[in-house]
Amino acid sequence: MNLILHVWRQKSADAPGRMVRYEARGISTHMSFLEMLDVVNEELIAKGEEPIAFDHDCREGICGMCGFMINGVAHGPRRGTTVCQLHMRYFQDGDEIYVEPWRARAFPVIRDLVVDRSAFDRIIAAGGYVSVSTGSAPDANSIPVPKEDADRAMDAAACIGCGACVAMCPNASAALFTGAKITHLGLLPQGQPERRRRALAMVAQAGRELFGSCTNIGECEAVCPKEIKLEVIARMNRDFLRASWTSRDTGGDGAR
Ligand code: SF4
Ligand code: FES
Repeated sequence: MNLILHVWRQKSADAPGRMVRYEARGISTHMSFLEMLDVVNEELIAKGEEPIAFDHDCREGICGMCGFMINGVAHGPRRGTTVCQLHMRYFQDGDEIYVEPWRARAFPVIRDLVVDRSAFDRIIAAGGYVSVSTGSAPDANSIPVPKEDADRAMDAAACIGCGACVAMCPNASAALFTGAKITHLGLLPQGQPERRRRALAMVAQAGRELFGSCTNIGECEAVCPKEIKLEVIARMNRDFLRASWTSRDTGGDGAR
């Protein structure tokens, strides 16, 4: 198949960017979208031009490195699918495709389709971990976890930190990502000692990173490649409110 691409090209964070037209010829329907870009890049390199920069690693939909807008939709037209798992058979011969980086103040463009997502790392560093001693593996097996809680914790833990939720949200909110992390740890016994402190710290950090507030639009859930549900945002808000009340009542950090 042959395609027309319009790709955002930007040399650096400070340089102006623009859409550039490319022709992708002889593309197999079995290729992933990233493999199609590889073909375009090989042609660019052969002509002595700069290849299109994009992030990727596993190419199996599990690492969270890849991601950009395809025709205005984060990760493109297939639900529950990262761009590395999006195959060209979902496009038509002759299609014209617009490819742009995530757009959010908290995710500045580094080059072309690559954005800086270290704001997510700082939200995790603020509290997205368990620091209490949980013992060895046999100890973990001796702590019963209700099946429903374990399943919901695993569903939330599926978040790969790709940033599509932020990119698609009109408010550039990180609520789905932050809620997934808070839900994952907050549903497990090992996550209880720090549960309230975690909610306060992670939500505060998301605000410091200039992500917007959630207004329940739901675009995040619609494009999330791991199909994280909006209910994680409700859990995050509940944990945050409870922690805020405790903190206000005790003058502490909500750790009680
Ligand atoms: S919640 Fe979904 S869209 Fe957002 S970072 Fe996690 S996996 Fe990506
Ligand atoms: S490259 Fe790892 S999820 Fe796409």
